[in-house]
Amino acid sequence: MAVPRTAPILVASNRGPVSYTLAEDGSLTARRGGGGLVSGLRAIGPESGGVWVCAALGEGDREAARRAGDSHLNPGDTGGQQVRMLDIAPDVFAAAYNGVANSVLWFVHHLLYQTPVEPVFDAEFAEQWAAYESYNAAFADALAQEAVDEAVVLVQDYHLALVPAMLRERRPDLRIGHFSHTPWAPPDYYRLLPDDVAAGVLRGILGGDRAAFLTERWATAFADCCAAVLGAEIVRDGDGSGGASGGGGGGGRVTAVRFEGRETRLGVHGLGADADFLRERSRQPDVDERLSTLRAQIGPGRKSIVRVDRTELSKNIVRGLLAYRRLLETRPEWRERVVHVAFAYPSRQDLAVYRDYTERVRRIADEINEEYGTEGWTPVALHVKDDFARSLAAYRLADVALVNPIRDGMNLVAKEVPVVSGRGCALVLSREAGAYAELGEDALVVNPYDVEGTARALHEALRMSDDERADRTKRLAAAATALPPQAWFLAQLRAL
Ligand code: G6P
Repeated sequence: MAVPRTAPILVASNRGPVSYTLAEDGSLTARRGGGGLVSGLRAIGPESGGVWVCAALGEGDREAARRAGDSHLNPGDTGGQQVRMLDIAPDVFAAAYNGVANSVLWFVHHLLYQTPVEPVFDAEFAEQWAAYESYNAAFADALAQEAVDEAVVLVQDYHLALVPAMLRERRPDLRIGHFSHTPWAPPDYYRLLPDDVAAGVLRGILGGDRAAFLTERWATAFADCCAAVLGAEIVRDGDGSGGASGGGGGGGRVTAVRFEGRETRLGVHGLGADADFLRERSRQPDVDERLSTLRAQIGPGRKSIVRVDRTELSKNIVRGLLAYRRLLETRPEWRERVVHVAFAYPSRQDLAVYRDYTERVRRIADEINEEYGTEGWTPVALHVKDDFARSLAAYRLADVALVNPIRDGMNLVAKEVPVVSGRGCALVLSREAGAYAELGEDALVVNPYDVEGTARALHEALRMSDDERADRTKRLAAAATALPPQAWFLAQLRAL
């Protein structure tokens, strides 16, 4: 039976707000996720009739999706949210998600192809690209079925770059926006992609009415790619006639891209931290309990340098460890007086390069502990089991937070730490994180490739006076919460 067109607002993303595990007796357990989109959507509430379309990621999800058929998941599992989970064939999903989205598009936007990780565009990739197209088409079909006339559709991220154009073809009446949660690669780097893929991704996003980004920098890079790859025209502020193509010229902010007779507006919405939620959650007893455990592990009178990341190449965890090692080497006064608490949660373990990276992180942490550790002091406390309550506990006690990604769309850890921090926390921040645009002034800013410079910044951060640290933290928290998730979500809706 066809789904009636009832949804006035739709969100589409690869990962949805809920995931399922399947027990041997066939029962399903739902687990709700967090994150900006989930809390953003709360701004409109279940009564708005909004529908979220996402992919089934594992066996449990697929079973739940099969049981729901063309209907929505059980609202009891989703906090009342209407969710349509797409049961995409496992081989199509794996090729689209692992092969194209996470291996190639993620690597291009984060500039991760640097020897020894090389891009491979062979026959297998061509097949994966075809799978990516059909995975995107599955989303476009579902959205076209669900959306009421002139509905607003917010398509999320690099997994679904082709959806805006595919959806416009099926439903020209809809208002379609795309939001990129990643950085956008500069044109010379973007053109590593095979020509049809490079053009296909841009045409896909330009199929929408609006393309939005986390910072001005990524929006500009996107427009520059449209000019360089498609020959599209870039429209800038105060420049009604359209500015220079080819990425040069025109001083103003980019506001739109004109291509094949259509105009796609560009927008910037810097997702902020959810202060109310974080402050409330970080005072819960399970967080207190973990705080005591962490304090005991660090030891009395010692300072802590905290990092919290998925184990992700773009997060630059290895260089962070090397900088810490360099700090211990060049500033022996910190030995026995500081602990690097590194949370590196497993991510995308289907990909060999992520497994290797996880291994390297472990190995270097072990090496540092062997080299410098003493009877009563373990210099690196590496935790790999994902535990949100423990991350919050670490935010509360951190003296220094290390956020040094090679490139990052935003980086919410940089924004969450100052909000939750108890006594104030010095932030060592990569200039390549989107958050730098808003937090740069009160952070100690580093070039993420510069291990020596990062070691110096760690030293400065550790010796910052209590007053200065508290002042800076206050200003960081204000900047970090300027656009909380619900306002971020509503701003996108309004703009469409
Ligand atoms: C990035 C992407 C998100 C994604 C997240 C986790 O932040 O922008 O869309 O959800 O990584 O990645 P995963 O592959 O685990 O969904």
